[in-house]
Amino acid sequence: MNASAIPAAGATKGARVTAITSGKGGVGKTLVAANLAAALARLGERVLVLDADLGLANLDVVLNLSSKCTLHEVFTGAVELMDAVLPAPGGFSVLLAGSGMLEYSRMTPEVRDKLLAVVMQMRPLFDHILLDTGAGISDVVLFTVSLADEVLVVATPEPTSLADAYATVKVLATTQPSRPMRLLVNQVQRASEGRAVRAQLQQVVDRFVNPSLTSPVQLNLIGEVPLDPAVREAVQRRQLLLESLPGSEAAKALATAAGRLLNGA
Ligand SMILES: Nc1ncnc2c1ncn2[C@@H]1O[C@H](COP(=O)(O)OP(=O)(O)OP(=O)(O)O)[C@@H](O)[C@H]1O
Ligand SMILES: [Mg+2]
Repeated sequence: MNASAIPAAGATKGARVTAITSGKGGVGKTLVAANLAAALARLGERVLVLDADLGLANLDVVLNLSSKCTLHEVFTGAVELMDAVLPAPGGFSVLLAGSGMLEYSRMTPEVRDKLLAVVMQMRPLFDHILLDTGAGISDVVLFTVSLADEVLVVATPEPTSLADAYATVKVLATTQPSRPMRLLVNQVQRASEGRAVRAQLQQVVDRFVNPSLTSPVQLNLIGEVPLDPAVREAVQRRQLLLESLPGSEAAKALATAAGRLLNGA
């Protein structure tokens, strides 16, 4: 058992589960998941990041962790769930996933049940669980998001990212029960570009999605993170941005976003 990764039992009403998703790949979901987790941990929260990119994991690479105890081994029964919960640099815990595993490219009833059981078992142990989903709107991604209490959509100002963020919001809003939806705009190149992106996305959602919903989708912006060479530098070093370059503009923006997520902005 990785005792250091399991928080001491305390009064908890169960973790708030946030799914981090985007539609488009490579926009910064894993960066955001890992660094929001570190920022929340710094604020005294007990945080677990679950790599829900089940067949093409990246969280281990970003955090420079390597383990034979991933969700794949948990699902096959080779290891106990508690043994797969690992301490990550940054003071939070992780459940890693495997890589190059074709069996997770589609959701099966078995994996569905097992993933649900993992989240249910982890809920009482943490204050926050962040589900770092893969790209796209596959059934694996959609099921993962359905396990969450709230959704954090990561988008960049690029038109392709916006189109995919819109498609994701539309699919989620029309196929799953309504939940708070937050937006983090990554790789912005000027101040307030995040607000402009939010306004643009909200306008399209208001026009084409909200008229058919009983509770309209309201995208709340929790932050805008600049395009910052420090991010690439930290990834190359395989270190957390918040730990290796805490003074960088991107690190400061992610810490601010974590505060807003915590306060339910
Ligand atoms: N704010 C930023 N400034 C500079 N580079 C960034 C920024 N955000 C992300 N990147 C670059 O984009 C890369 C991809 O980020 P990340 O792996 O977090 O994306 P992802 O959405 O999780 O991708 P996938 O869809 O493959 O899971 C990072 O390794 C980094 O090089
Ligand atoms: Mg990722």
